[in-house]
Amino acid sequence: MALAFAIGVGTQNAKGEWLEVFYQKPVYQPEAGLVEAAKAAGYEGGNQAIALDAGKLEALAGALSGEQADLAASLKDSKAPTVLVVLESDEQAASTPEVYLKLQLISHRLVKPHGIDLTGIFGLLPNVAWTNQGAIDLAELPQKQLEARMNGELLEVISVDKFPKMTDYVAPSGVRIADTARVRLGAFVGEGTTIMHEGFINFNAGTAGTSMIEGRISAGVFVGEGSDLGGGCSTMGTLSGGGNIVIAVGENSLIGANAGIGIPLGDRCTVESGLYITAGTKVNVLDENKEVVEVVKARDLANKADLLFRRNSLSGAIECVTNKTAIELNHELHANN
Ligand SMILES: CC(C)(COP(=O)(O)OP(=O)(O)OC[C@H]1O[C@@H](n2cnc3c(N)ncnc32)[C@H](O)[C@@H]1OP(=O)(O)O)[C@@H](O)C(=O)NCCC(=O)NCCS
Repeated sequence: MALAFAIGVGTQNAKGEWLEVFYQKPVYQPEAGLVEAAKAAGYEGGNQAIALDAGKLEALAGALSGEQADLAASLKDSKAPTVLVVLESDEQAASTPEVYLKLQLISHRLVKPHGIDLTGIFGLLPNVAWTNQGAIDLAELPQKQLEARMNGELLEVISVDKFPKMTDYVAPSGVRIADTARVRLGAFVGEGTTIMHEGFINFNAGTAGTSMIEGRISAGVFVGEGSDLGGGCSTMGTLSGGGNIVIAVGENSLIGANAGIGIPLGDRCTVESGLYITAGTKVNVLDENKEVVEVVKARDLANKADLLFRRNSLSGAIECVTNKTAIELNHELHANN
């Protein structure tokens, strides 16, 4: 079975290079009929991004059926360039439209973080000025700014980045996002997640389901159902700094406000507000009588369930005790529309 099929519309710079592509209805693991129909637009097999024109779109619309046929037909009127991407297998992407498709498969919740090969994407994602008039090549920005001013308008540059905000491509069901600029395309935002203003989700990262996110979910980090990230807390990414442990948070756990984790946390764990646990942090493991039973590195406690981490406010030592009061979700807080 092929990996993906998608018809997109996007933006190119003056040289005809792709800056970004929007796929309204990407298909994960398409039926053979879809891939067969792609031949009408010149698809010959393997992983291909095919520039479309009115003729190819018409041929595609004729070969397809249902919503994909409607999409191809409606794009015949597009003033912006259109593209068909068929991925037969999950290999390293070879073009900007392919990368945009892979990121959108994740944000459409069709693929979980780490579920698709994203190696080499930085080299294929151009750094773009994201403006109120869409994506603009940075080299062309000064001219566009001048043109806007001459029309008495302001060209607002919202960000300069390789990744756009997710919600300009897809707004997944059952989520609240207080500040959409804080969620990058390629984030997986689970049904029932609320992301407050301090919350952030990078690409290839996200939440499985109900979560209150007021801290940062770094690239590659996945947060389990029912877990909360307190205000300003941090999950350690692996993109810089030499860290190579993939961080995750289990189910029904809580990372306190201004706390942080450099180890994967298990289910029903709590990290005290303000405490940053790195992999090499030495931890006193206490028994029920608050006696130290052993001293371990935090990485030895990775993925273990029912732990409470805190910094002893008198001695400064970091302690781990059994978490008796695993967080109970405030259902009203988590209620989503
Ligand atoms: C670590 C934490 C979970 C402990 O909360 P708790 O389980 O309710 O524990 P309590 O505060 O009732 O304390 C239980 C006992 O441990 C002691 N204790 C708690 N934290 C301690 C610390 N850091 N050092 C020493 N003793 C501590 C208390 O003094 C109390 O002692 P006692 O048994 O003698 O009365 C809590 O302090 C915390 O940091 N929660 C995170 C909340 C948060 O950030 N939410 C997100 C908001 S955006």
